[in-house]
Amino acid sequence: MIDHWNGRPPSGRIAYVDGRYLRAGKAGVHIEDRGLQLGDSVYEVCRIASGRLRDEEEHLDRLERSLGEIQMAMPMARAALKGVMTELVRRNGLRDGILYLQVTRGAVRREHPIPEPPPRPTLILTARPVDPAAIARRHAEGVAVVLRPDQRWARCDIKSTQLLANLMAKTEARSKGAFEAWLIDRGGFITEGASTTAWIMDREGRVVTRELSHAILPGVTRRVILEAAAEAQLPVIERRFTPAEAKAAREAFLTSATGGAVPVVQIDGRPVGDGKPGPVTRRIMALYAEHSHET
Ligand code: PDD
Repeated sequence: MIDHWNGRPPSGRIAYVDGRYLRAGKAGVHIEDRGLQLGDSVYEVCRIASGRLRDEEEHLDRLERSLGEIQMAMPMARAALKGVMTELVRRNGLRDGILYLQVTRGAVRREHPIPEPPPRPTLILTARPVDPAAIARRHAEGVAVVLRPDQRWARCDIKSTQLLANLMAKTEARSKGAFEAWLIDRGGFITEGASTTAWIMDREGRVVTRELSHAILPGVTRRVILEAAAEAQLPVIERRFTPAEAKAAREAFLTSATGGAVPVVQIDGRPVGDGKPGPVTRRIMALYAEHSHET
């Protein structure tokens, strides 16, 4: 039998597409789906830990916002969507994993303008296991990042599936043995990672992450950590920072739903601080573990 998946079979066992739970290898969308043809779609990635979805409400808030920005409504009521998410985790029998959710504008003859009346959106969900040992190793040892130009579009606040610039930066990072690429905007400031939020600890001992704008994704993990840090009265400031500042930082870390907070111990081949995960980063990791919301 021909291996259509080139040795990398699709995510998980069961997928959800347009109202049906299907074997993942058999699930598909129409060839004229606008998500496929035009990247006319948005997505979310949610962590599953101990069989439960983490920060589900925050992810759904952001999904609703992304959809609103591209003139789309939620594909179904929030409660119903939560039901599908939970059911998919259950059907895949996952304890540690990630849930992927994508909403496209739907299948319709290819034309650029947003179609009127709106087609029926396509809703896709997949769920797959993650290796908790690999995540634990990154938490313990930290990761390396490289700096790359930010070549993305001007609305990075929308969690769109148009990820060419992100995946190219990530691939360059991996080819250099780094875990992530931190992206630099035209003004010479770091925006964020290719798929993570960027953080440093500055000379004054404050935790710094870029302020929200069209230049970055409003990270769910970022949001939860900011709330937790405020509650713990940890000094945090939302402002942009330069590559020079990042390289001179005492500590650095990155965040995402997939891995939580991960220490950054090397930037462009040079150690951050003493090259080991720092105490403030560890504190943030613990705060996130306490404050993330499991449903
Ligand atoms: N990435 N910035 C970008 C560009 C991202 O793609 C992501 C998430 C983040 C972190 O956001 P959050 O804390 O909500 O995961 C920041 C997901 C995990 C992905 O694309 O797989």
